[in-house]
Amino acid sequence: MSPKKSRKVEAKPYEHPESASPMRPEVGTQASFKKKKPPVTYRYDSSLAPEMVWDEKNPACEQGEALIRQIMEAESLEEAQDAAEKLKRMSAPFLNWAGKAEQAEFTVPTLPLFIHERLSTKVIIETLKAHKTDKQIDLPLLFADPQHSIRDQVLRAYEHQDKWVNRLILGDSLTVMNSLLRYESLGGQVQMIYMDPPYGVKFGSNFQPFVRNRNVKHNDDEHMSREPEMVKAYRDTWELGLHSYLAYMRDRLLFCRELLHPTGSIFVQISDDNEHHVRQLLDEVFGPENVCGVITFVKTSTQTLGLLPWVADKILWYAKDKESVKYNQIYLSKELGLEGASGYNMLESPDGTTVRRLTADEKADPRLIPGGWRVFSASDLTSSHYNPSEPYSFNGQTYTPGHRFWSTNREGLERLEKANRLVVIGQSLRYKRYIDDFSVYPLSNLWEDTGVAGFTSERKCYVVQTNSKVIERCVLMTTDPGDLVLDPTCGGGTTAYVAEQWGRRWITIDVSRVPLALARQRLLTATFPWYELRDENRGPSSGFVYKRRQNKKGKEVGGIVPHIKLKAIANDLPPDEEVLVDRPEQTSGITRVTGPFVVEATIPTPVDWEGNGGEDSGVAEGHADHVSRMLEVLRLSPLLHLGGGKAVKVKKVRPPAKTLNLSAEAVTDDTKEEPVAFIFGPENGAVSENLIYHAAMEARAKSYAHLYVIGFAIQPDARKYIEDCEAIAGVPATYVQATPDLLMGDLLKNMRSSQIFSVCGLPEVRICKAKGKLQVELLGLDLFDPVTMEANHLHGNDVPAWFLDTNYNGTCFHVCQAFFPRTGAWNSIKKALKGQYEEGVWDHLAGSLSAPFEPTDSGQIAVKVIDDRGNELIVTKSVTEVEG
Ligand SMILES: C[S@@+](CC[C@H](N)C(=O)[O-])C[C@H]1O[C@@H](n2cnc3c(N)ncnc32)[C@H](O)[C@@H]1O
Repeated sequence: MSPKKSRKVEAKPYEHPESASPMRPEVGTQASFKKKKPPVTYRYDSSLAPEMVWDEKNPACEQGEALIRQIMEAESLEEAQDAAEKLKRMSAPFLNWAGKAEQAEFTVPTLPLFIHERLSTKVIIETLKAHKTDKQIDLPLLFADPQHSIRDQVLRAYEHQDKWVNRLILGDSLTVMNSLLRYESLGGQVQMIYMDPPYGVKFGSNFQPFVRNRNVKHNDDEHMSREPEMVKAYRDTWELGLHSYLAYMRDRLLFCRELLHPTGSIFVQISDDNEHHVRQLLDEVFGPENVCGVITFVKTSTQTLGLLPWVADKILWYAKDKESVKYNQIYLSKELGLEGASGYNMLESPDGTTVRRLTADEKADPRLIPGGWRVFSASDLTSSHYNPSEPYSFNGQTYTPGHRFWSTNREGLERLEKANRLVVIGQSLRYKRYIDDFSVYPLSNLWEDTGVAGFTSERKCYVVQTNSKVIERCVLMTTDPGDLVLDPTCGGGTTAYVAEQWGRRWITIDVSRVPLALARQRLLTATFPWYELRDENRGPSSGFVYKRRQNKKGKEVGGIVPHIKLKAIANDLPPDEEVLVDRPEQTSGITRVTGPFVVEATIPTPVDWEGNGGEDSGVAEGHADHVSRMLEVLRLSPLLHLGGGKAVKVKKVRPPAKTLNLSAEAVTDDTKEEPVAFIFGPENGAVSENLIYHAAMEARAKSYAHLYVIGFAIQPDARKYIEDCEAIAGVPATYVQATPDLLMGDLLKNMRSSQIFSVCGLPEVRICKAKGKLQVELLGLDLFDPVTMEANHLHGNDVPAWFLDTNYNGTCFHVCQAFFPRTGAWNSIKKALKGQYEEGVWDHLAGSLSAPFEPTDSGQIAVKVIDDRGNELIVTKSVTEVEG
């Protein structure tokens, strides 16, 4: 079918040529990464614990004594006042909780961030186009990939400045923010932070463990998270309930404060349950003088607890420094009879001779107002500020301002009269304020239009997703295009989505893979209007273009609206104009897509996990503990789950005698008592190829029948090694995924043993020829029974997402094609670019067969499959392995 002829629509993203960020290394280089940094210890401000202030062991005691001395010896009043103010702060009431006073400091590891994935919607679109036109595309340019050699990445990481790309980061917000501060010196550079943390109410209530299932049940074993980073973050958060929650929040707020620009703002979204506590924390960290407002916004879901229904949540807005905070007022359109226009209850005839009140019917339905009649409010013409106020005569009657003063002088009153702005109501002279003098009104701190009824078009992709209108307002109020926005609680990525829409740069962090997978899909497939830029070469930081425009009915519809004020008429000045930041000029013919972005993660810096005595003996010891814990778990839960109700049973588990590399040995029921070997991967990292290599060598030398590799995550080359282990090392091997519940200690007491260890699927892909090009098909996920070596098969169309890198370089994964099988994820872009691509081309992106592509220089392709729990499984293949 040939594409229909239609108006040409271009798809393009915003770029940020004026911003840079330090080069981060790519995943795979971590083994050679040398620039380790020690953990950082942060001291809390001890002046906040008054009972400790005068304890002589507390350094604050010295500080207090010094301040008293300063007051007594002060040479000026200001100096004494300043010291007294500090002293007063030291003994102000404060919020205390278990562990706060005792813990004077906290330590955070300083970890580098590694780039795991590069994404660019433009690449995916261009790849489809290339299929049609045979045009060569400059992939690195579209990915904004600077293509540093591994050597440069290792030697010059964090020194060299690269072009800015937006960032999705996997990791605990505390560790990631510490990395941004210590490795990248990002302190003072973030313009706005939006934080929507767990509300501190119920364990698990903010988590969605499955990519495609938004139902979250509390305390349901099946729905608990299985991800190690997330489980750890939550174990820390909830160990002491509210006490731990407060410490968790306070620590993160401290980092947020350090990251904020002097004119920056933070917004913390919270429910009524803990609003009062979080507000006190914000007072403590930012200072009560820096609160800018508490916003009440109507939620999309109502909570009815048998009493007053809870319909709203709060956003606590603090500035780093309220005196210099960046602020753009947001305006809403005035609608007669509604908020912002409630005082407009008078009508004036077209010739200006008759005035009367609006009827109730006209108020309820403004369409009943006769044509040409103007709506106004009879506003006060007096003020409490002194003005010479002699009586003023109007239409033969004399009026006085009563006990007050006229708002303007005699000359001003005369000008108002001449402009037909005076009206008599009862006995008083008033000012005619027409509704269209200013067609908008300022947004207040009560947002009633954010519930379902207000914005129905938005579809939730994440269980606790915030209405984007809410975050949009916060972004627009406190940032300009090109500014940097951070969200340490990404969830479904609403902040990143909104920041992308409005040309802001963004960084978003989440400890859990499921929300990150959802956010990635949402961003990759989004479309936005093209807001006209003042200077395209400079990108959004040059600002958007705003214009004054009216529709056919004379209504102001542009981004600049006149603001006619009494003062201007009285002083014969031109009217003021106001910019509506949310109404920039839009260019038709361009569909804006998300700009290039990266997925990054914290990875512990290399330590010698492989047990050869690393530099850090504490870590090696920790690993020994981990191995003995795992051994115990394997003894107690000796089932390796295969899915479909099948499992391999393990018996006689014990540590092997005199081993160099292996962690355990056992027998499986079907091996006729032949011993098999086990190796456990690290507690905090992925199983490496090196680990398996050494284990396999030893397993073979000691004639074990099989090697089981148990880990929480695995590197792709290690996964590949396992598949070929029998051929390479002479012993078959199987990867077994351990559930991260194991790291949760006692929190999950009723774990079902069959779910602790499961044999993990491996994507099965096929490369085939298509008219001189190549195509990749995801045949499915294969699950091998290690005993019978038979496979269970899940079809390629049954995975939530899969990605193809057509030129895999062995380190970072470049998403050249992104597939969301059996979904309409790409529909919005497909619709916007209608007619420019063959329908069938888009079908690829909703299925299991890629669009055709040219073989490339690396000779290697990689396929990454995202499973239902957000786990990533990567396989690589050489392009020479063409089948059919
Ligand atoms: C309420 S949700 C945010 C929802 C988001 N506003 C949206 O619109 O989708 C909170 C998120 O914070 C994440 N989170 C919780 N603790 C975290 C931590 N310590 N570090 C990073 N992310 C964390 C959770 O995984 C969850 O996705």
